[in-house]
Amino acid sequence: MAPTTTTCIGKAVSELDTPCFLVDLEKVTKNCQSMKDSCKSLELAFRPSTNTHRTLEGSKLQTTDQKTVMCRSLHEMDHLASNGFDDILYGFPLAKANIPRISKLAEKLTSLHLAVDNCETVCALKETAPPAEKTWSVLLMVDCGAKREGVWWDAEDGVEMVKKMKDCKHITFKGVYAFCGNAYEGTQADLEKARDETIERLLKFVDRLTKIDVKCSTIGLGGTPVCKTSSPNMKKLTELHSGNYIFTDLQQTTLGTKHDDIACSVATRVVGHYPHRKQMLVDCGENGLSTMGNHGHNNKEMGYALVKDDHNLRVGAVYQDLGVVEAVSGDLDFSKYPIGSVVQLLPYHSCGTSLLYKTYHVIDADGKVSQEWNPISTC
Ligand SMILES: Cc1ncc(COP(=O)(O)O)c(C=O)c1O
Repeated sequence: MAPTTTTCIGKAVSELDTPCFLVDLEKVTKNCQSMKDSCKSLELAFRPSTNTHRTLEGSKLQTTDQKTVMCRSLHEMDHLASNGFDDILYGFPLAKANIPRISKLAEKLTSLHLAVDNCETVCALKETAPPAEKTWSVLLMVDCGAKREGVWWDAEDGVEMVKKMKDCKHITFKGVYAFCGNAYEGTQADLEKARDETIERLLKFVDRLTKIDVKCSTIGLGGTPVCKTSSPNMKKLTELHSGNYIFTDLQQTTLGTKHDDIACSVATRVVGHYPHRKQMLVDCGENGLSTMGNHGHNNKEMGYALVKDDHNLRVGAVYQDLGVVEAVSGDLDFSKYPIGSVVQLLPYHSCGTSLLYKTYHVIDADGKVSQEWNPISTC
């Protein structure tokens, strides 16, 4: 999608080139505030993840100190580090090949923390001196059931890696971090079970480290669904990391989030009516919607997106530049959506959708563009 070359500030949604990505300023601000409030009430530190939007403006809204974040990509980290963010966790498995780049960042940041989950990287960190007067501050990623990155909580290799780090003078082992991605796999009813199992496993791992005289000053848990809950066992953690909550999306609605809290949408134009097959086409396909959505475990009906003003209408199929809109049940009232009119779509997956756009149009209470945010692309 072309970057905004001329400003759209002051334009109404119907005047924008489509497809385009919209951010509701009031909702995004509210979502950020409620996550800060809930971490505060749990008395846990909060390190927001900036992966959902990858913008300076969003990062400022997510943080209280405008300094402390978690990034999942090196580009995002460089951008934030050049703009005042000074306490960054690279919450992604560190690869040996990236250590020289990381070293440059470590030189300029007050606090840079790294995440590891393999022996090769641990050995590389042991063999590489950090910048003068710094140590490598390292978290071990622990897989407690999400089956993504991290050492398996019950296996020996994680403890062995920590043993290697513990005696290295230029490594400061900070603790452990588990992403509770498995919370996304179930329903709302399964969420607490996934959270409690993850915490229990993570704390068992911490106990094993205590037995070898290693203290974890950080015991972190990540993922929007779990970070939106609260329970007594969460108080045994030290910090939470979440990112998607800033925009949220339809996937989060399967886990308790309200549709009305979704702070982003895609504006798209109706380009064709096909009453004989009860479908209309819009100018947003794979070019502007994450296609992760339609295969979601809990997604029986929502397709890739729902029409914001009529949740009975979904984008059920996508081509490169076209989306197919159809009714989930009953008929599509074509008269409400003339050809050329603009509809807003709530994406099933906002992280994958937002990053397809070079500019986000931020919409104020008057329905007009008040800001433009330019995300840093991953590659
Ligand atoms: C390791 C890790 N932590 C935290 C997050 C943020 O999770 P969420 O988007 O559910 O808030 C992610 C997102 O991918 C992640 O991979």
